[in-house]
Amino acid sequence: MNDMGRPQYDQAASQLNTRCWSLAEQTASEQEQAIQTAAQLLAQGQTVAFPTETVYGLGADATSTRAVEQIFYAKGRPSDNPLIVHIADQAEVEQLVEPYNELVSRLMERFWPGPLTLVLPVRQGAVSPKVTAGLTTVAVRMPDHEVARRLIRAAGRPIAAPSANRSGRPSPTTAAHVLEDLDGRIAGIVDGGPTGVGVESTVVEVDGDRVHVLRPGGITIAMLQELCLQVTIDPAVDPAGGMLHPVLIEQELGTYKSTTVTSNVASDVDSIKDSIENSAVTAPKALKRDIPVTAAASSAEPILEQSVISEDVLSVASDRDVSSSSGDESDIELLASECVNTNAAHTAVPLEAPRSPGMKYTHYAPTGVMRIVQGDSADAVSAYIQADIADAKRRGETTGILTFREHAGQYRADVVAELGSLSELNQAAQLLYSALRRFDDAGITYILAEACPTEGIGLAVMNRLVKAAGHRIVQVPSS
Ligand code: TXA
Ligand code: MG
Repeated sequence: MNDMGRPQYDQAASQLNTRCWSLAEQTASEQEQAIQTAAQLLAQGQTVAFPTETVYGLGADATSTRAVEQIFYAKGRPSDNPLIVHIADQAEVEQLVEPYNELVSRLMERFWPGPLTLVLPVRQGAVSPKVTAGLTTVAVRMPDHEVARRLIRAAGRPIAAPSANRSGRPSPTTAAHVLEDLDGRIAGIVDGGPTGVGVESTVVEVDGDRVHVLRPGGITIAMLQELCLQVTIDPAVDPAGGMLHPVLIEQELGTYKSTTVTSNVASDVDSIKDSIENSAVTAPKALKRDIPVTAAASSAEPILEQSVISEDVLSVASDRDVSSSSGDESDIELLASECVNTNAAHTAVPLEAPRSPGMKYTHYAPTGVMRIVQGDSADAVSAYIQADIADAKRRGETTGILTFREHAGQYRADVVAELGSLSELNQAAQLLYSALRRFDDAGITYILAEACPTEGIGLAVMNRLVKAAGHRIVQVPSS
């Protein structure tokens, strides 16, 4: 599309007067007027934040390079991280991507509008190359939010929209979060109230009759399995280096016994530390038939902290595959993980070329140091958290605890943020990002977060938590 006549920003100096339309306070015709005005700004190549069912997005005309550049500028986003293109009606996808197979059609029919993003081969010239960051694919989604779709329809073009936060900050679930991060850097915000799901969409690639999950989100693995025999999960989904997978495998497939990996736990902790410090990613062989419940289990250290130092491909077969192969465990290839003790450097190691470029960045991170505390015994986890927070207070830290309703009563910290009940993880997804922002608002310097089960949307919650914690995980043994 022709960019002539569009406003040009002096990027270094630009300080925009960010307009905010609060739809809740408006009549239907005022709302329509607000959406039309916001759509005009988008059509002129400016950036407008808007609500979706997951998180607020920062929109710009996906066909205009100059418009899309405003997104990267406003967010401070690395230019190698491609953007999701949002559409209002399914028919619009045809202009964006090459012809697709029947599984893709079924996914769209079942989950659109909704929190599923499909990565598909891009039709040449359909969107600015800045949107795809030079990839041959484009990520497309149709949000399940009336305001979002009305805005996109009124703008009359596909809208590129990442989450409307400054890069590295928690994604915004309210217009106030967007303002906190982007006031003066974007042209406007349509305030449609708090978002519903709370974590971002599930991003998948379709390869023949297989659905490959690049980022877990509002559409769960089980929901995808209802539609597709073969659902696999990208190793980058589990930045904890295997922590999420065994639980996932047990819960999703139900068939496999857990065994402890001993063969790939490095005996030489110093060499692991070296490899972390040098960011040298080693490539151990994928193990078959063994499920690493926790790589820490074979160590003499009572409490270990895990960091990713290596990655390999994990492919999780669906339960239908399992039955067709008579319960043979050879369908499962494992991600290998290793551990370091608590004194090791807490460097977040970049994953090896994740398929979804965004998965390699430490996102959602609060300013304070954050650790996840995990263990089979809830009592042992609570006791560890209480003792460690007491230590932190003695060191002069301001402390925060991220916990669940079942355990919140026993904790004392400067901020105790509760994510609802462990049996209602939808609430945890809704509350997670605002809780992380609360820690920052209160100037918290040290945070401990309880782990949660990875079933259903819990996988997305844990994926975001592990990234927020920069992959720092404390494994607490039962006794
Ligand atoms: O729920 C959501 O998806 C929100 C709302 C606003 O729609 N958007 C969102 O966008 O989370 P963003 O930019 O924060 O995350 C997009 C993710 C990134 O991890 C990015 O690397 C990945 O999608 N992605 C985008 N295009 C891709 C492509 N062609 N191939 C692989 N991954 C892609
Ligand atoms: Mg984002």
